[in-house]
Amino acid sequence: MATKEELLKVLEPNGQEQILTYWDELDENQREQLAQQILEIDWPTVTKWAANALKGESAPIPFDKLTPAPYHALVPETEEEKAFQAKAYQHGVELLKNGKVAAFTVAGGQGTRLGYDGPKGTYEVSPAMHKSLFQIFAEALLRNQAKYGCKFTWYIMTSKINDAATRAFFEKNHYFGLEKEQVKMFKQAMLPAFGLDGKALLAAKDSLALSPNGHGGSFVALRDSGALEDMKKKGVTILSYWQVDNPLIKVMDPLFIGLHDMTKSDMSSRALIKRDYAEKLGHFCILDGKMIIVEYSDMPVELAKQEDKPGRLAYRAGSPAMHVMSVDFIDRITSGTLEFNPHRANKKVPYINDNGELVVPESPNAIKLEFFLFDALPLAKNPLVLEACRDEQFAPVKNKEGEDSPATCRAAYLARGRKWLRAAGVVLPEGMEVELSTKSFVDEDDVKEFVKGGHLPPLKPNCINYVE
Ligand code: UTP
Repeated sequence: MATKEELLKVLEPNGQEQILTYWDELDENQREQLAQQILEIDWPTVTKWAANALKGESAPIPFDKLTPAPYHALVPETEEEKAFQAKAYQHGVELLKNGKVAAFTVAGGQGTRLGYDGPKGTYEVSPAMHKSLFQIFAEALLRNQAKYGCKFTWYIMTSKINDAATRAFFEKNHYFGLEKEQVKMFKQAMLPAFGLDGKALLAAKDSLALSPNGHGGSFVALRDSGALEDMKKKGVTILSYWQVDNPLIKVMDPLFIGLHDMTKSDMSSRALIKRDYAEKLGHFCILDGKMIIVEYSDMPVELAKQEDKPGRLAYRAGSPAMHVMSVDFIDRITSGTLEFNPHRANKKVPYINDNGELVVPESPNAIKLEFFLFDALPLAKNPLVLEACRDEQFAPVKNKEGEDSPATCRAAYLARGRKWLRAAGVVLPEGMEVELSTKSFVDEDDVKEFVKGGHLPPLKPNCINYVE
């Protein structure tokens, strides 16, 4: 184990020796834990990030040079585009059938806004059966396996705060019908929180205040965990990426995958047409010929409000964080040092003060540093954007109540079922709801086939029926 002197040699040059304030009071195990945390961090780099973030030294965006990024409309606007999309769909199907695609979910976040005690993926969200987010995804993958006659590997990024609980949840639930070997979990790295004076905070006398390093930490984590090598060994060339909080995600989307591959895109994104200029979605933009996402909070209001036609926002393509990425691209950007700059978030972080007492602050007292996945976009060749169908694909669980909450998510889940059934000729009367299982239904065609085959059971009024 490292001695106090050795640790001081690491910390002092970076002005972080306060971390050892209580070292002399700690027992062997506690010292071991703290030493390990300290040695896992690249202090010169991390301290510099914190100092820059505190000074507000991120490069300003030259907004006068910004233009909206072009995107493929969901409903093709020309015959040519229609034919291209039809071809892309078939190509996507072939890639799926040939085992070229794997699934990747980021699930390492803290889920603080939801305030749920446990990994967010274990949150029970389906309206009738109370299936967890992980179960909904697992069953959707099983359905896609049956559709395309293939077997997916599902990579799941966890973090120190939820890795053990996530693994235990999958074990307990027998991987929801997937084979254990298909589910590959790995942890992302953690970063310390810093006080407003640039000093790393202690969460306890023997522990730094650590938090996961953001979904953008996934690139390095994919490399360092061996997941990237595993993909290459398996001949996987494309990753279908989604966040753990959106049960409506189309986990495997032949059109999106096919378009990505046919246009030789490194990293592709789905876009939602913003409801209004203030909707909290990042904007797809072009700057100096590169695609970037400008966060809603960074976008000047006059630009966000700009119209390219009366009543149509110029910057209407917003990001719901759904992507397809090439394995080659991830390999390329992680082959050396990935020069991402972390984003700063002001947070309330409980900490040990100079008297050795735990302080639970009532207002933000610290900054957390997080990498964002979309910061890879400017590095990507031919980045493609494809419009998504909001009511069929996006209903995240972010907050306890109100917008993007379990209540709005469940309502959207049921509304999608209602829509797909209507398309299959079944109009549900008021009060009759149906939870369509992702085990059997991942798109409208699945429902049409089911209904046409006469498989729809009698449905009860005034309740949520479950159909699988
Ligand atoms: P959010 O940005 O919504 O964060 O993550 P969160 O941690 O889930 O929730 P809050 O902000 O604390 O309330 C979007 C997605 O990115 C993943 C999350 O698990 C979620 O799938 N994520 C986020 C990570 O995997 N690692 C991180 O460090 C942060």
